[in-house]
Amino acid sequence: MAQVFHRAANTVARASIAGLILLLVLASGLLWVFFRGAYTQSVEVIKDQPAQFSHKHHVNLGIDCRYCHTTVETSAFAGLPPTETCMSCHSQIWTHADMLEPVRASLAENRPLQWTRVNWVPDYVYFNHSIHINKGIGCESCHGRVDRMPLVWRAKTLLMEFCLECHRNPEKHIRPREEVFTMGYQPKQSQSTLGPKLVAEYQVRKLTDCYTCHR
Ligand code: HEC
Ligand code: HEC
Ligand code: HEC
Ligand code: HEC
Ligand code: HEC
Repeated sequence: MAQVFHRAANTVARASIAGLILLLVLASGLLWVFFRGAYTQSVEVIKDQPAQFSHKHHVNLGIDCRYCHTTVETSAFAGLPPTETCMSCHSQIWTHADMLEPVRASLAENRPLQWTRVNWVPDYVYFNHSIHINKGIGCESCHGRVDRMPLVWRAKTLLMEFCLECHRNPEKHIRPREEVFTMGYQPKQSQSTLGPKLVAEYQVRKLTDCYTCHR
């Protein structure tokens, strides 16, 4: 009897089934990346701001983070500077620069600058800056090299996996308290020696139960 399908057809059929499965896996993988990944989390996306405030310029002038983010060590909220903080310098320098017009207008009209938020976690997540700062977690671990950002962008996804990776292994990320605000920090001895030492000294716990962040 004559063969209806050529012998190779079997292989073709198998190959196309395998191909289809591969395609499905790939497509769902892409969807997962899309919904969970950097894109939807606005990582490295620059937002419109009411004034072109450059961290790159100001941090490299040697101004401490706490000069503007005054409550970062003491409260959940890091704090954003009021117009008066900008004017403490800009009433004397660069007083006529066009780029500072929105800042001057804000002061004249007594209308706060509405900075667009870059980092956030959903309402059902509890976050607190002060404990991280006091336990030796650098701004850089969560916000990246702010000193290289003309306008700040979000450096990390801030997804649950991101938080948990460090909560499980704080020794990999901890630094001496006096280095928390340092950008481009390099440990003076290897992190595998220094990390556990600091974890013991600062009595850092591994906070991984759900209640830590979902209360
Ligand atoms: C001279 C004031 C000033 C200094 C110094 C400063 N910042 Fe800022 N920072 C601002 C202003 C104003 C904003 C809001 C505008 C913006 O997001 O660009 C901001 C926003 C941020 C944001 C984003 C906030 C959000 O919306 O999620 C981060 C993160 C940040 N600063 C980190 C730092 C770190 C880390 C340092 C120190 C290395 C620092 N800043 C130093 C003024 C300052
Ligand atoms: C401690 C002093 C100081 C404070 C506080 C300060 N600035 Fe500045 N700012 C400077 C200096 C100095 C320059 C000039 C920087 C340069 O040319 O390198 C500058 C430059 C600028 C410029 C011109 C563009 C640029 O980045 O070079 C803008 C816009 C500006 N600042 C906005 C702000 C805003 C908004 C705030 C408040 C959130 C602020 N500054 C707070 C010192 C300060
Ligand atoms: C463990 C991670 C982590 C560290 C360390 C950290 N931040 Fe944040 N930061 C966040 C998260 C998460 C948010 C968003 C908070 C929210 O939505 O309530 C945020 C928000 C901010 C904001 C916006 C205002 C606010 O509080 O919501 C500023 C400004 C800021 N951080 C500055 C800093 C500075 C300066 C440091 C270092 C002294 C620092 N952060 C260290 C995770 C961190
Ligand atoms: C790079 C390390 C690191 C990252 C990233 C990190 N944490 Fe933490 N977190 C810590 C350390 C260290 C502590 C302090 C543990 C202790 O109290 O001993 C802590 C403590 C906390 C606490 C306890 C606060 C309290 O008052 O009991 C909360 C809540 C928290 N983190 C939320 C978060 C959330 C939400 C994220 C992600 C957006 C996050 N953390 C990311 C290191 C980190
Ligand atoms: C260190 C902080 C932290 C801990 C501990 C933590 N979560 Fe989360 N969780 C988060 C953050 C941050 C998000 C928000 C992620 C986002 O922006 O979508 C989140 C989101 C979630 C969501 C929403 C879906 C998702 O994955 O985004 C669920 C469900 C959840 N957490 C359950 C849990 C459970 C169950 C535990 C305990 C086993 C737990 N979480 C422990 C930080 C934490």
